Amino acid sequence: MSCKKSYITTPIYYVNDVAHIGHAYTTIIADTLARYSRLIGEDTFFLTGTDEHGQKIEEAAKKRGEDTQAYADKISKTFKDLWDDFDISYDKFIRTTDEAHKLGVQKAFTKMHEKGDIYKDTYSGHYCISCETFFPETQLVDDEFCPDCGKSTSIVEEESYFFKLSAYEDKLLAWYENNPDCILPKSKRNEVIRFVEGGLNDLSITRTSFDWGVKLPNDFNDPKHVMYVWLDALMNYLTALGYGTDEANMDKYPARVHLIGKDILRFHAIYWPAFLMSLDMPLPKHIGAHGWWTRNGEKMSKSKGNVVNPKEVADAYGLENFRYFMLREVPFGGDGDFSQRALIDRINSDLGNDLGNLLNRLIGMSGKYFEGRVECDLVSKYYQAELDEMQTSLDKLEPMFFELQLHRFLEELWRPLTVANRAIDKYQPWTMIKEGKTEETMALNGLIATILAKVSLMLHAVMPQTTATVCEALGFEITPESFKNIIRNGAILEAFVTQKREPLFPRIEEELLVDARLEALKKEQEEAEAKKKAQKEGKEKAQAEGVALIGIDQFFATSLKVGTVVKAEEVPKSKKLLLLQVDLGEDEPRQVVAGIKEWYSAEEMLNTQVCVVANLKPAKLMGMISQGMLLAAKDENGLCMVRPEQPKTNGTPIG
Ligand code: MSP
Repeated sequence: MSCKKSYITTPIYYVNDVAHIGHAYTTIIADTLARYSRLIGEDTFFLTGTDEHGQKIEEAAKKRGEDTQAYADKISKTFKDLWDDFDISYDKFIRTTDEAHKLGVQKAFTKMHEKGDIYKDTYSGHYCISCETFFPETQLVDDEFCPDCGKSTSIVEEESYFFKLSAYEDKLLAWYENNPDCILPKSKRNEVIRFVEGGLNDLSITRTSFDWGVKLPNDFNDPKHVMYVWLDALMNYLTALGYGTDEANMDKYPARVHLIGKDILRFHAIYWPAFLMSLDMPLPKHIGAHGWWTRNGEKMSKSKGNVVNPKEVADAYGLENFRYFMLREVPFGGDGDFSQRALIDRINSDLGNDLGNLLNRLIGMSGKYFEGRVECDLVSKYYQAELDEMQTSLDKLEPMFFELQLHRFLEELWRPLTVANRAIDKYQPWTMIKEGKTEETMALNGLIATILAKVSLMLHAVMPQTTATVCEALGFEITPESFKNIIRNGAILEAFVTQKREPLFPRIEEELLVDARLEALKKEQEEAEAKKKAQKEGKEKAQAEGVALIGIDQFFATSLKVGTVVKAEEVPKSKKLLLLQVDLGEDEPRQVVAGIKEWYSAEEMLNTQVCVVANLKPAKLMGMISQGMLLAAKDENGLCMVRPEQPKTNGTPIG
């Protein structure tokens, strides 16, 4: 990628929904590349934008009852606003509904047709609207579901124009073979090669079942067709340079680097180069495919409510801390997990302890011993070993950067910071100064300043504002010139005077973002705890008052029913007991032995309704089985039965 001109792109984002952390990730990587290119003096063109046609967008607008264009305008603006808010340094924000873009797509269609690469036929197969992709039956899961996203596909049978993708199989394989870096990371290139070796079908590139798309050029006289959204979308990389409208700059940026997520690799690594070959246009220099972000180990989805909103993260933790985290945390190409704990650790440890603290130590020591003055010209006299160690790391950086190994780049970039922090502990400037080693102490401060300067220059593309602040404290500005002087030519920093300043990375103790789901769970737990506590307290109080409290579950464990006494007799030789048969609506009446004889006679009880505890374990009273208990209330005036106020069907539950 290291060339005098560089062209860096993000995917253009679908406007069916607002941006999430995955979109921010691709854009931040691309922005980092663009900033670095500019810093090393390259003429850089950085493109991003929105992908606005296709069935998915049309359906999303319809679902919300909005006009499709108005809906696309609205969501496209949310992307643009977010990137502006994130200070993304794009040179152009393209929209596929731009007139110039549509003209470019039509021109490409005509060109491919002239080349003999487009023919008309009937498409019959399965289409996944979510992925905007056709699938042959053999690739479907359970004959119906999309092999990529798992959603149900629909059967499409329509007249279609086809692109002769199959004709490009060998040329594509040759391209992969001759350009080992064309797809990064390299493991992804192997996947693509295997896929192409498996054989390519021609690609349906128009649709007739809806019309939210770029129409075919008029010459085709086929108004019911619109372009397939991926042909339309991929062409943005050319139309943004003026293809089809103002082509003066078309050749200006031949070396293109497309940043994408792994899910859209096939479109970029197979369809796109084939289209370019058909158009006789230069092929991409690199297609870099990153992995997917999950949250706390789970796939992000709206239904789970765990989608990470990049704006909220940046607002809570700082935009540049977030940028650093995303690039440092995950090897490029691998999947990554977003957790606030990991982010906090990176901020406190890498940024706070290693970087921020080093600047503080420099400001502290230079203030204490030299009234803030720092001179770097004697560094090599005393600390050549440390300078060498720093240089070894610096020399490794650029290749890692250009291979998109940004996590390794950052890891290596941190080594010089360790060298500096270790040097302070080893040489103990507080002792040196007491021993009168003033020159050595000043040189040590110079070493720290040199390391901070070089690290900041190399880190600038990742953390533009933060590193600008560090370098301002070191007395210089970050520009392509200072980069060239200090990094490329090894210029020694000019003497400067430090000022006391606020820490760059205040320590973060607690998670700052409210995770809606976790919060709900926490609240539930808190409520359960509170309930338990209240119950315990109530129970204790009740116990103190001689009443034991039960929960509702305990209450409902008792089966209470209305029944009618169908037979009543006295129990011989018993002063207290009556023998009752109670109809509870069951096959047989229940036998209940009740201790109510003192207050009720057998006649009084007959044919009256009573309330019965119906699930008591049977008990024997004076040799007779009792299969229930009657509810009654007893006070100093005697006992009375508890009965329904109005007659109720036997067996009616009470509760
Ligand atoms: N419109 C197409 C791209 C056309 S480019 C000519 C598209 N858009 S998208 O909005 O669905 O996705 C854009 C990018 O976001 C893709 O690179 C995709 O990989 C990335 N991500 C979407 N979800 C993601 C994660 N959860 N994690 C990381 N990136 C993911 O595809």
